[in-house]
Amino acid sequence: MGENALWQNARSWSILETGFGLGLNFLATWAQWRSDPARPKRLNFMSIEAHPVSPDDLIKGAAHWPELQELVLQLRAQYWGLGEGFQTLSFEGEAVSLTLCIGDVQDILPEIVGQFDSIFLDGFSPERNPRMWETLTLKGVASHAKPHAKLATWCVKGEVRERLKEVGFEVQKLEGLPPKRECLSALYAPHWRTHEELDPSLLSQKQEALIVGKGLAGASLARSLAKRGMKIRVIDELKSKGTGSGSQIKPLRAGASGLPVAIFHPMDSRDDNLQSKMTRMGIRMLLWRIEHLGSSLIATAFKRVEVLEVKKRSKNKESQKHWDESSNAPDREETLEPNDWSAPAKKTNASRPQILHKVGGWIRPQALIDGLLDHPNIEVIEGFEVNALTPHLETENEKDNSKHWQVVSTRGETLQTSTLILCVGFHTRELLDTLLSSDSNAPAWPIQAIKGQMTLGRMHELNELLSPGTTLSSEVLLGKRAHVDQATFVNQLENVHPEHQSPSFYIGSTFERDQIQIENTPASERKNLLDLAQVIESETQLKTTPEALKASLNLESWSGVRCTTPDRMPIVGEIRRGLWVNFGLGSRGLSLCTLMAETLGALIQREPLPLAKRLFKSIQWDRFSLR
Ligand SMILES: Cc1cc2nc3c(=O)[nH]c(=O)nc-3n(C[C@H](O)[C@H](O)[C@H](O)COP(=O)(O)OP(=O)(O)OC[C@H]3O[C@@H](n4cnc5c(N)ncnc54)[C@H](O)[C@@H]3O)c2cc1C
Ligand SMILES: C[S@@+](CC[C@H](N)C(=O)[O-])C[C@H]1O[C@@H](n2cnc3c(N)ncnc32)[C@H](O)[C@@H]1O
Repeated sequence: MGENALWQNARSWSILETGFGLGLNFLATWAQWRSDPARPKRLNFMSIEAHPVSPDDLIKGAAHWPELQELVLQLRAQYWGLGEGFQTLSFEGEAVSLTLCIGDVQDILPEIVGQFDSIFLDGFSPERNPRMWETLTLKGVASHAKPHAKLATWCVKGEVRERLKEVGFEVQKLEGLPPKRECLSALYAPHWRTHEELDPSLLSQKQEALIVGKGLAGASLARSLAKRGMKIRVIDELKSKGTGSGSQIKPLRAGASGLPVAIFHPMDSRDDNLQSKMTRMGIRMLLWRIEHLGSSLIATAFKRVEVLEVKKRSKNKESQKHWDESSNAPDREETLEPNDWSAPAKKTNASRPQILHKVGGWIRPQALIDGLLDHPNIEVIEGFEVNALTPHLETENEKDNSKHWQVVSTRGETLQTSTLILCVGFHTRELLDTLLSSDSNAPAWPIQAIKGQMTLGRMHELNELLSPGTTLSSEVLLGKRAHVDQATFVNQLENVHPEHQSPSFYIGSTFERDQIQIENTPASERKNLLDLAQVIESETQLKTTPEALKASLNLESWSGVRCTTPDRMPIVGEIRRGLWVNFGLGSRGLSLCTLMAETLGALIQREPLPLAKRLFKSIQWDRFSLR
């Protein structure tokens, strides 16, 4: 495609293609990127396709090109579970990304947020495939071209050339590669002024950022920005070492991400709503990120397991609300078509609907966070409790006058930055109040704290209690499969605490609205034990009580606070120039943290977003004020 000379020494390069087909353009561009010593650090390839080919066809399509064999196998490994909309695949330790946008070109183009350096038009011929070449399509393409973006296509038809000129391209016919005699090369140079010409700061790339909060949100974002070449400082009031409690469970005050184990699975809904789409996109990203982080995390702190979701039919309104909070509408298993993500489960208990999520797993969040922060561009500063945010007023002698924001600690220390990002969960609003309390345009965020308490015990003790001859069915307590029961998951997780010889089991967590006290309470523990007693009874017919369980098991608890929003979507974005937020991950921290981080990373570095516009709007920081 002749990209080499154009992209050399750029920090990142973004390409838009119409018609992914067999993926040959993508593979050839990736191969070219690999072989170019002056390649850009990042290659973002976005391609629109109405009818994705099968994985086998990808392999067959590349069969004639030996140099593409290794790459097509890597592509094939991530080419699963594709559905309408956007999905990002990632290669080369996250340096190369492919966002596949599945849908009709004229529906997708208005959903793309971002501008591209190069464009490939690769529909079938205008006679066979008119929509790919209509003025409406080409106008949509032009709206995503950076000033001086280069466009290439094999189609040299006079009407296509005319339409390209109409939408702002200077067009040139060139000699083609056999079997084509000719091809077109075009430069985006419209007579009218572009957004970037009107505001050149849109093209500037940020060099550094300061992130407050090293939970899943902050650590994931730090990684996404660091890999884009930015220098990142992450500050947190907590110190990760020296808890000295000897407990299996880390200290209480570790933010929501301090939980000993968390589980993920896609959210499923009858109408495939925005949350369902988000969780699938986010889980796909989480999986490739874990893969890129390497084998030690995978060996000790993460396991892919199928997740059996057992839904509860609630009679009273309050528990229905609770149900809606933690899952979605009942009876879904009756309409669910099996796909790569989920399938209706074989019923072991006919009265309750069940869905088997084939893509799921559990992870120790703290190990993931440590892995994310282990990057040469990231500096972690612990024990820094931010007390106030202030604008930073530059002094005359200051060399660096780009630092507009300052954080002040409880001990009076200060740090300055050009890009300040708050990832402090439920504390985000109160921290912002220190800056914006007198600002009538301060964002209104109807966030809610929901305390959760998780209970943990030793598997061998539970087995002793159940014996002789009684075991929980393999679907419930087996390392291969997690069992998510409404808001409760009960599972045996053998690797969670490798230092303990006996595998642990977990029950929980509770959902306690408007509770910001994170002390463990006997009442919450009892609720968890009641759930465990019910699971034991439904699986083994053995009747037991929370009290009996408590008397025979050595139990520990962990509590934290989820930060949730009324529409169950996170809150992200730039609320004042250089001041950003990333919070409100609710009960789905694992499913959302990478997607939010990659979205913000792209926004901050002016790359095309991995999210469709409709989804992006659903997480905008100002959506509650606009209503
Ligand atoms: C009991 C329970 C069970 C859960 N189970 C699951 C699950 O199974 N799967 C799942 O995906 N999600 C689960 N979640 C949700 C998940 O834990 C959260 O969505 C996620 O951890 C939120 O991450 P965060 O980074 O936004 O916030 P946090 O993890 O709360 O991180 C915020 C950080 O900011 C720091 N901070 C706060 N104020 C300041 C300040 N003033 N100065 C400096 N630092 C500050 C805190 O110390 C903290 O480290 C659960 C949550 C709970 C409570
Ligand atoms: C020539 S092929 C693309 C070849 C591909 N770029 C490659 O390198 O292998 C054209 C592709 O455009 C897709 N297509 C056709 N009409 C479309 C439309 N209206 N919207 C999106 N994609 C479309 C077809 O399904 C087909 O896969």
